[in-house]
Amino acid sequence: MRLILPLPGHEAFAGRLAQAGGWTAIAPETRRFPDGESYLRLPEAVGGRPVDLVCSLARPDPQFLPLAFAADAARELGASEVTLVAPYLAYLRQDTRFRPGEAVSSRSFARLLSGCVDRVLTVDPHLHRYPALARIYRVPTATLHAAPLLAGWIAEHVRSPLIVGPDEESAQWAGAIAAAAGAPHVVARKQRHGDRDVEIALPDLSAWRDRQPVLVDDIASSGRTLIAVARQLQRQGLPRPDCVVVHGLFADDALAALQPFVRQVVSTDSVAHPSNRIGLAPLFADALARNLRDPAEALSGDDA
Ligand code: R5P
Repeated sequence: MRLILPLPGHEAFAGRLAQAGGWTAIAPETRRFPDGESYLRLPEAVGGRPVDLVCSLARPDPQFLPLAFAADAARELGASEVTLVAPYLAYLRQDTRFRPGEAVSSRSFARLLSGCVDRVLTVDPHLHRYPALARIYRVPTATLHAAPLLAGWIAEHVRSPLIVGPDEESAQWAGAIAAAAGAPHVVARKQRHGDRDVEIALPDLSAWRDRQPVLVDDIASSGRTLIAVARQLQRQGLPRPDCVVVHGLFADDALAALQPFVRQVVSTDSVAHPSNRIGLAPLFADALARNLRDPAEALSGDDA
């Protein structure tokens, strides 16, 4: 029987995962020493069992060390395999050296994680120049896809939607969500001038003024992409859009800055946030359970 071990802050997702799979979730004991170092103690039930460390890496820098300590401890205490369940997998943005001297953090982070765990399971990683996680991860990885769940939510909650992808990269993805939701879609052109400086161009949308626009994106971080698209929609006389994203990071003031421009913001629970409406635990539980039943469908199946 799998043992689900949540890292601090991920107890709720781990509980839903355990419930969906019929497994047990036990939180490790954690605390800080007075000098700020991390203390971590695993439950005794680890030996001989597959252990799933649940840690969505939206704040990767402080999360990494406790995760590495938990993975090492699980291995040393005899876990039969250690899987990282990371609904949000961080450090994929810097996938090349844009300017001389830059750290290609995606490669370094993948190398570090690959040294800690036996497998990595995630959903819609933000891949750009790498075709798959296997390009940088040295352990088997599996990528789950939230698009069908997003489409299901839209079909159930939005009347007469128009799916809007914020950039050319999202074209295929937005098209798939639109097809599954039975809706038309359009795609914007995006130019990013800085972390919080985004320029958006939309095609002529006068034919769609009676539709409810739904912006779909894999990540909302500063929220500036969604804001820029929403402004352009407003200029063309469309209603305030709904925003449906997989990973709602919503850094700093992102949600407050976005809210005046949109009707509602919805995200999956890959990152815990008040906008969470779409649960991913059953998707993850199914992937883990299938791996148990049929070794031919090992977690590395789609990426390796
Ligand atoms: C870009 O490639 C992604 O799909 C998102 O559009 C982007 O990461 C969103 O970032 P922000 O919310 O900071 O504009």
